[in-house]
Amino acid sequence: MYAIMVFGYPKFQNYDFLIAKNQIIEKAFSINFTCLSKRQVFKISYMQKKQVAITAVGGYVPDYVLSNQILETMIDTNDEWITTRTGVKERRILKGEGLGSSDMGVETVKQILQKRNIDPLEIDCLICTTVTPDMVFPATANIIAYKTGLKNAFGFDLGAACSGFLFGLTTAASLIESGRYKKVIVVGVDKMSAIVDYSDRTTCILFGDAAGAVLLEENTEGHGILDSLLRVDGVGCQHLHMKAGGSVKPASIETVMAKEHFVYQEGQSVFKYAVKGMADISYELMQKNNLTADDIAWLVPHQANLRIIDATANRMGLPAEKVMINIQKYGNTTSATIPLCLWEWEKQLKKGDNLILAAFGGGFTWGATWVKWAYNTPA
Ligand code: UT7
Repeated sequence: MYAIMVFGYPKFQNYDFLIAKNQIIEKAFSINFTCLSKRQVFKISYMQKKQVAITAVGGYVPDYVLSNQILETMIDTNDEWITTRTGVKERRILKGEGLGSSDMGVETVKQILQKRNIDPLEIDCLICTTVTPDMVFPATANIIAYKTGLKNAFGFDLGAACSGFLFGLTTAASLIESGRYKKVIVVGVDKMSAIVDYSDRTTCILFGDAAGAVLLEENTEGHGILDSLLRVDGVGCQHLHMKAGGSVKPASIETVMAKEHFVYQEGQSVFKYAVKGMADISYELMQKNNLTADDIAWLVPHQANLRIIDATANRMGLPAEKVMINIQKYGNTTSATIPLCLWEWEKQLKKGDNLILAAFGGGFTWGATWVKWAYNTPA
């Protein structure tokens, strides 16, 4: 019986060991179940949990490039200020009448289905994480599912701003762990250009449009989403929000005139919370799982500001070459940043690599997720 306690989860992740653990568990149950303490029972059920892994990645960025040089012609700013304060050089903007977040999301889902040669009818659920839905309702997940032929899927939107993708990932993994669903897609997408005021130099320099998506399936080799720490704190509402368009202040001529349908952000306040929130939670996740900087192959951070990313990497003791950074090309694409990084770096990821995904965003929302990468991509 004590042998079970010795095997701390999730230190051992290889297939042989999982088999061995299951045998020990069966034995323990058959010999003397009643002598197990509550803690032991909890450990056993935790060890028996299904493992869920990312098995495909898709990404999409629109063609139009909005560079710092172009912004210099629109507002009182300059490339040097934007680069040193944020790390952003250019961002992508979705142009075209009638195009919204769903159109970018659709591209990522199509990629995933094609890459894995999966029939759309096999997808059980699609979660779309976004703060820029096509419409208030129906959910953008519905629209993406409709446009990609996911006729057997249910779906919903999940709003957690820049942490949306991480919240969606844990939610999707739980659906598969429950045993009721096998294939779940999480799309992180935002058309930030729809809610950014291009006369406000403190916000319009930051954001861009993009989409990223992952497919999640059960994994029998101990790879996948191994642990997550996710948090919310409503104190953030005052510092980062959209003033009108919700049920508190529905759209009116006055709200439009007052530019209340754009992102409102108190940059410095958010910055302070973000640096602490993202760095602390990433470090806490490492501590909780006895992970050292050497154990981690990649930090996949939300791309809000290069200085926030650097602070997180420093706190974790990670060198720059282990940090995925594409903020210079795309800016802050809110829900899309993390899956977009996975998409760009996919070929460099090796089966068994430990990744820490970390985010901080409006709400406030923040979190970190430990992923053991589940596959190699042919060069
Ligand atoms: O992803 C969601 C979560 N969001 C974040 O994580 C964003 C967190 N915040 C930030 O990244 C930073 O606070 C910003 C990039 C938004 C701003 O950087 P900052 O270093 O905090 O600048 P600041 O707001 O303290 O402004 C410094 C100065 C001000 O001028 P004065 O008052 O010192 O004369 C601003 O008016 O820089 C001025 N400024 C600009 N100058 C040139 C503000 N925006 C610009 C601009 N170009 N675009």
